[in-house]
Amino acid sequence: MSGRRIRYAEDDSAGTFRARPRRLRRTAALREWVAETDLEVRRLTYPLFVRPGRGEPRPVPSMPGIEQYTVGNLAALGRDLEAEGIRSVLLFGLARKKFPDGREAWARDGLIPEAVRALKRTAPGLVVATDVCLCAYTSHGHCGVVRNGEIANDATCERLGQVALAHAEAGADVVAPSAMMDGQVGRIRATLDATGHEATVLWAYSTKHASAFYGPFRDVERSTPAFGDRRSYQMDPRNGREALREMALDLAEGADLLMVKPALTSLDLLARARERFSLPLAAFQVSGEYALLKAGADRGIIDEDAAVRETLGAIRRAGADVIVTYFARDVARRTREGR
Ligand code: PBG
Ligand code: ZN
Repeated sequence: MSGRRIRYAEDDSAGTFRARPRRLRRTAALREWVAETDLEVRRLTYPLFVRPGRGEPRPVPSMPGIEQYTVGNLAALGRDLEAEGIRSVLLFGLARKKFPDGREAWARDGLIPEAVRALKRTAPGLVVATDVCLCAYTSHGHCGVVRNGEIANDATCERLGQVALAHAEAGADVVAPSAMMDGQVGRIRATLDATGHEATVLWAYSTKHASAFYGPFRDVERSTPAFGDRRSYQMDPRNGREALREMALDLAEGADLLMVKPALTSLDLLARARERFSLPLAAFQVSGEYALLKAGADRGIIDEDAAVRETLGAIRRAGADVIVTYFARDVARRTREGR
């Protein structure tokens, strides 16, 4: 006979029963009744690429369904997103012109400050978060200040503080530093607090692995490093204990939320962090994860809706409170349609 037989050790005669987990799987109604996790749209953050210039939104070839928007597109888009049920966005800027020091990144009248103002005008209910880094703006494509062929940590933190300040002044609710410099969270917190922005939320990309899954994003941003790679600052994907150390440091430096990425390669980190830290945890399902699912669906290898539900569900199950995903609008649409 198959199945697990459980015997009460105390009284063999009294009760033996067979565990039958399938009982709760028999009908859709039963399954819905006991499902452990939900994918609430309120938890999803939609990433937005903002490009300079004017004109219509421009599709991203490797990411079907994703577009680059101009500041002029954002008023209408913000209204649409709000109406669709999207509650938060994470903004990424594209440089007008790249400089060795990436100076557009901290310009008060830069693209992202303008984008924040545009969204805040028409979609005041949206949580507006901004990516804080230099790589989209530097001519060499690295996330920091280059000195003698290396990325200078503390000088970069100083600059990141200025970037975050420009975004906060424009009205960003949340700033999300992604450069993986030591002390960046503390430096940004100090800069914001000293300038009256103590209410600006700090969302730390704590555990950002040097990953092969950022490819489509770097094509959009044209931010692939011109020399070397990012492994002297982004984390080695083989390391989990170090990831928890990064999170503990960001927490100590004043982070309000912690993020791991890519999401699907970091489920263990989410689960471990969930037990160790009480603050909200986020996971970023990155561009490569999106592009692969889309490409697989396009070739008929997987069912897109099911695969999206499954991956996001696993990220949620592992312990994420917030999920950044390019699928956010799709999930919102399916939720509205009741499926
Ligand atoms: C920039 C940044 C990257 C991503 C978020 N912020 C790319 C990188 O580190 O090269 C990845 C996002 C994605 O792939 O969707 N520091
Ligand atoms: Zn960067």
